[in-house]
Amino acid sequence: MREQLEKEYPDYRDQIRSAFEAGQQHIFRWWDALSPFEKENLLRQVASIDFPFLHKLFHTYLQKPVSTFRGTLAPPYVISVPATPEERRSAERIYRIGESFLRRGEIAVLTVAGGDGTRLGGNGPKGTLHIAPISGKSIFQLHAEKICALQKRYGTVIPWYIMTSETNNKATQEFFASHDFFGLDPRHLCFFMQGMLPVLSLEGKLLMNSRSTIIKSPNGHGGSLIALKEKGILADMKRRGIRSLFYHQVDNVLIKIADPAFLGYHVSNAAEMSLKVVRKRQGGEKVGIVGYIDGRLQIVEYSELSQEDMEARDENGGLKYHAGNIAVHVMNIDFLEKVYQREDALPYHIARKKVPFLNEHGDLVLPEENNAIKYESFIFDILKHVEKATIVEALREDEFSPVKNMEGENSPETAKQDMINLFGRWLHNAGITIPVDARGNVIGLIEISPFFALDEEELRKKIPQTFQFDGLLHL
Ligand code: UD1
Repeated sequence: MREQLEKEYPDYRDQIRSAFEAGQQHIFRWWDALSPFEKENLLRQVASIDFPFLHKLFHTYLQKPVSTFRGTLAPPYVISVPATPEERRSAERIYRIGESFLRRGEIAVLTVAGGDGTRLGGNGPKGTLHIAPISGKSIFQLHAEKICALQKRYGTVIPWYIMTSETNNKATQEFFASHDFFGLDPRHLCFFMQGMLPVLSLEGKLLMNSRSTIIKSPNGHGGSLIALKEKGILADMKRRGIRSLFYHQVDNVLIKIADPAFLGYHVSNAAEMSLKVVRKRQGGEKVGIVGYIDGRLQIVEYSELSQEDMEARDENGGLKYHAGNIAVHVMNIDFLEKVYQREDALPYHIARKKVPFLNEHGDLVLPEENNAIKYESFIFDILKHVEKATIVEALREDEFSPVKNMEGENSPETAKQDMINLFGRWLHNAGITIPVDARGNVIGLIEISPFFALDEEELRKKIPQTFQFDGLLHL
């Protein structure tokens, strides 16, 4: 078989040999029935696989327990939301520091949008989801308008780097192009693709979902750091004079992009990396927590936290590990360069999943049990190399409402309501009467464009005190 393949496609001889040597020759099972186009396509996929690396991945991580971490966990110091007049005055000073950082044009935004969005049913890139309560603007448009408004306010350019993946890159780029990049200058907008890794069976074999297609999945958001380096994007950032990246996940509709307060804490503490956290609602909430493991700062995923740590209490009866990760970070380019020197900077995490695949008879099997292993790296693993980090608490209702599921918690419906409620609070704090129901949800519809007001302060300056809300407001 191998000789036949090598003879037919001598240009791929080395790749064919690697696949056979790695014991993955079953992927050529249907070779004789493939068209020349399918053959070439399969070989191209084979050529993109680093077989020795895959072998190492399988054997290194398979035995590793995934349920808990090892080491001693301790809660971190978190800068809490300012409550006293003195704290508010200090926060005001910090805010101005962040604003000058923005004015200097040293910040870029990095949005990770390469995930498969499987929990959402995988209907196109998550960012294209129409989410704004009245206009129906997409998540991408909301982010784009915030960046536009910030650029205008601070007279600066904020380059925007969006990470996509093989599966959604084309659709994402076409979406932006068909909407004229939402008013942004495309010279300051950069799409880049993260890497993909094959999905393996529990025995370490490649899986296929057609006779010529090997199943792959994105290599995790840690893949953003790998791609930034490999694709020369970091060098592009440096050429532009960028010193820090504001990192966030595409799915958070309340994200305060390049928030001056957060940037201010980062700069004034001379931090290498900063994190925003929210107080966990309850022990079992599905967010990672920020903590020290054996003295190194890390994020422990909800799936890796023991029941005991999840529910542990502090001396005031609150959750001991309450700093919930909302995946909002600032990272210095200098720090990233230090991280790139380390071989162990981005370890892989494994997830066992149910992945439909072709069996040896060529029939598609929809497994009822986990049959496959996906490999992902997590960006926050670089935290253990941080010398100086700042952790800032944010109010969940102001800054965190991710779209993860089709319905129920963290769904498009809750995201819309959270936006309406946020705008409702801005108006209420500006002296406008806003009716709410027993659960605190605004009765009515409100949408405020970032172009009208990026925050509560800006809205207060623009809205007349005499304004009366009649159940529908679109600014
Ligand atoms: C993630 C965090 C969790 C945090 C929560 C907040 C991880 C492992 N966990 O959980 O600590 O509390 O978000 O919302 O990150 N993505 C890519 N490429 C990939 C994989 C993911 O770009 O290969 C992007 C997705 O598009 C998405 C984000 O990363 O924007 C998060 O992925 P998701 O699978 O939704 O993470 P969660 O498990 O919800």
